[in-house]
Amino acid sequence: MVIGMATALAGCWRLPQSWSDPRGPVAREQLDLFNLSLYFALALGGLVSGVLLYILLKFRHREGEKREALQIHGNARLEMAWTLLPILILVIVSIPTVRLAFRAHTPDRPAEVKVRAIGAQWFFNFEYPELGITTSNELVIPTGKNVDLRVTSRDVIHSFWIPKLAGKFDMIPARENIMWVRADEPGMYFGHCAEFCGTAHAQMRFRVKAVTPEEFAAWVAARKKGAKVPTDPTALAGKALFEGAVKGRVTCFACHAVEGTVAKANIGPNLTNIGERSTLGAGLIPNTDEHLRQWIRDPQAIKPGARMPAHQHLTEEELTQIVTYLRSLK
Ligand code: CUA
Repeated sequence: MVIGMATALAGCWRLPQSWSDPRGPVAREQLDLFNLSLYFALALGGLVSGVLLYILLKFRHREGEKREALQIHGNARLEMAWTLLPILILVIVSIPTVRLAFRAHTPDRPAEVKVRAIGAQWFFNFEYPELGITTSNELVIPTGKNVDLRVTSRDVIHSFWIPKLAGKFDMIPARENIMWVRADEPGMYFGHCAEFCGTAHAQMRFRVKAVTPEEFAAWVAARKKGAKVPTDPTALAGKALFEGAVKGRVTCFACHAVEGTVAKANIGPNLTNIGERSTLGAGLIPNTDEHLRQWIRDPQAIKPGARMPAHQHLTEEELTQIVTYLRSLK
């Protein structure tokens, strides 16, 4: 009961990952179910604690008192009551629980956007199979539309959770779990991996950016064109480095994809629109030139356990070139 009250209070603060501040139908129904269970727990906890307190006070030992309390064995009425009442409460709570278990993966109307969310140590890839585009760590969705989410993993078990929209759904290798979300209003919704998955589990975050349907259509159109080819000479030098064209320096293309270029690997996050994303390191730090430079030089210093190797051998000029190129990708 104490834990329930503490989490309920904690949830009341309208924090970015507060599940008691739902902004979509699935999260709202999940909160209603939580509240129903909480009210029963509070009522029962109050009743049991009250009776216990009453007995402790009423029958406490008093100075000079020798009388032993009346000893009884069995009470059919009481035993029936404390067996049947919990059964009744369990039945009442189980009806909306089972209903929600089905609703959480059955949209109330057909989904208009389909997304495959893939967990990996320690970031997320989001594929839009019908649109032919991929992004990482920042899922873009249109407001007011149902989004069908197929969640899976390519290594260990992760869990997909956007507290204000829906969750938690396990991301299991070689299996797709089905869920859906709908965001009522535009905004940035914070998500987190909710299953311990190794060293950087605590830093395995993502964001859901809900935009108006018009903005979403414009974003999709822009993304379908692939990455822009930079004209700036510094960015072009960075592109050459990124694509391994400068011998013995760096081979970013071996792990990352930038659609429309020779970089097609998917070992690390897809970087096609890295310049427009709000964070680096899977929701860890704001996406700025300086942070990107620090990230490329030594990712483990920012995110212990990160799979990306450090690139301490790069010169300041080379770092500037790569940063300029990546920041131009939007
Ligand atoms: Cu992925 Cu925890």
